[in-house]
Amino acid sequence: AGAGKFFVGGNWKCNGTKDSISKLISDLNSATLESDVDVVVAPPFVYIDQVKNSLSDRIEIAAQNCWTGKGGAFTGEISVEQLKDLGCKWVVLGHSERRHVIGEDDQFIGKKAAYALSEGLGVIACIGELLEEREAGKTFDVYAVPSWDNIVVAYEPVWAIGTGKVASPEQAQEVHVAVRDWLSKNVSAEVASKTRIIYGGSVNGGNCAELAKKEDIDGFLVGGASLKGPEFATIINSVT
Ligand code: G3P
Repeated sequence: AGAGKFFVGGNWKCNGTKDSISKLISDLNSATLESDVDVVVAPPFVYIDQVKNSLSDRIEIAAQNCWTGKGGAFTGEISVEQLKDLGCKWVVLGHSERRHVIGEDDQFIGKKAAYALSEGLGVIACIGELLEEREAGKTFDVYAVPSWDNIVVAYEPVWAIGTGKVASPEQAQEVHVAVRDWLSKNVSAEVASKTRIIYGGSVNGGNCAELAKKEDIDGFLVGGASLKGPEFATIINSVT
């Protein structure tokens, strides 16, 4: 951990029912969480209102996606204004599942990020390479955004997501340093030193402490393990 306050996000993906989410909320409400950590959960859209109404305000809410501009005739989409209306403070954008399963590209994601930021939502901007890209020495592309003030970068190597194959602390640290160098060269030294770069991909209660010790790992974006309240609390409390 290094740049700014430790940041732990729970990405619930397309999981849960009213009942399972109400159990998760009550586990989170009764957990003891370190105070020096920003904690955010990203429920499926349809449960955001339920979560907002019963989860402690200690934890902020993110959406898992948003539309590129104002709402209107865009069947099936959810606007930034609607997310703000429900009390969301963040949106996760560019997740590898949206890139590689659903087919979103950098240009489309960049448009969403720019609009969300202009409307005051924080963006958890995901980047990460496929295994063949890693083998070819390519780890990340970062899309253009107008301002870095309200962005957390989540590095999620695709080969580590949901596979149980966590990146080693050294592997993750190496990429986080590369992202920080990229920010320093392409944006500014100040943004590079302030921006939180969090790691995602098979983080769990057993491997979080070693990862959290690394200088440039400023938090986590957690999938599967964030669906279990006590384990998610362990990950939050791994801040060093
Ligand atoms: O956004 C979090 C993520 O993609 C990692 O998922 O299940 O490997 O922790 P998981």
